[in-house]
Amino acid sequence: MPVIKIHKNGEAHEGEIPDNSNMVVRAGIRQFPYPHLTYGCGMGKCAKCMCKIITGETSLPEPNWKEKKILGSKLEQGYRLACQLWISADLELSQA
Ligand code: FES
Repeated sequence: MPVIKIHKNGEAHEGEIPDNSNMVVRAGIRQFPYPHLTYGCGMGKCAKCMCKIITGETSLPEPNWKEKKILGSKLEQGYRLACQLWISADLELSQA
């Protein structure tokens, strides 16, 4: 199972999620990364789930059109929308 490490408010939280799962979906059912992940719409529209990827970006799928539309140049700075990511490998990220 992928291990997720999320940095938030100066703290680091680590936990496992099932293979090929989504952090917003997991948080929505009160599983890790709940309650450490901020999110909103779950549909790639609000950007509240925006995270900066620290390690593991090469295992992620290519940004979809929603991420390209919402994030623009932030994609090049390593930002992704957590609600659009189905994760199958370890990932370290931060969220403001
Ligand atoms: S939760 Fe709204 S864009 Fe991801």
